[in-house]
Amino acid sequence: MEEKAVRAVNALALKWMNEAATNIKQHMNEQLNIQTKSGRTDLVTNLDKETERFLVSQIQATFPTDQIISEEGFGDQVTSMTGRVWFVDPIDGTINFVKQRDNFAMMLALYEDGKPVYGNILAVMANRFIFGGPQMGVYLNEHLLAAPGAQPLAKGLFGVNGPMFAKNIDHVQEIGLASSGTRILGSAGIEFQQVLLGNEVGYISHLAPWDMAAGRVLAESLNLLVTRIDGSPVDMLKSGTVLVTNKNALQTIEEFQNN
Ligand code: IPD
Ligand code: CA
Ligand code: CA
Repeated sequence: MEEKAVRAVNALALKWMNEAATNIKQHMNEQLNIQTKSGRTDLVTNLDKETERFLVSQIQATFPTDQIISEEGFGDQVTSMTGRVWFVDPIDGTINFVKQRDNFAMMLALYEDGKPVYGNILAVMANRFIFGGPQMGVYLNEHLLAAPGAQPLAKGLFGVNGPMFAKNIDHVQEIGLASSGTRILGSAGIEFQQVLLGNEVGYISHLAPWDMAAGRVLAESLNLLVTRIDGSPVDMLKSGTVLVTNKNALQTIEEFQNN
């Protein structure tokens, strides 16, 4: 996709996400309808569904032949990354949304023939957008972001998924202890933002395609790496362990996996 077309997508995405975020803020203090999905800590609310329905309908109306992978089921059953594929996570960190009414994100991403084109992560209550892609660069609101550089693991904070850290899955305790300190924010989108800003040296979690799609576009546009725990490429159609970090820290993390 040409840069001009990506910038047109960006203008639409910002408009849709601003509108959706305003709607969430207007209604989030009303009685929420909360349902559990796979378990006690996997929640969905009426505002997750309403937001996804809105974003999916905007994409469908504007790009009727594009495919959409979205968390709450209003998108398509996508089996291939051929052509243009959108990813929608309407509220990322739903448990934060329910318990804190804060620290949640909204995410939108676009891939073409499997290649990252555009990503947008909005930390809704902070009104912090990080968006862009390989052609247009990455922006923090209106400011172009510089790449965070390749800080060693020992020099930065490291974001982790709570259960993976508590149970030491994939040596996450050793990785966290080798960093300057571990952080558990409860939203993949907000963790990705921290890594993009250089506030964390990396983040590891078990993620679904919509949890990582926007973050991957933005991270790779800033020379960061998004891989499985063993350094292999992620599959955009499958859930699994996802690591985002720089090449120096990745090397140290790989050593823990081999010991
Ligand atoms: C979840 C959050 C959480 C991560 C989970 C995700 P959701 O997203 O990003 O931090 O650990 O794996 O599923 O369900 O709140 O959109
Ligand atoms: Ca979600
Ligand atoms: Ca999510």
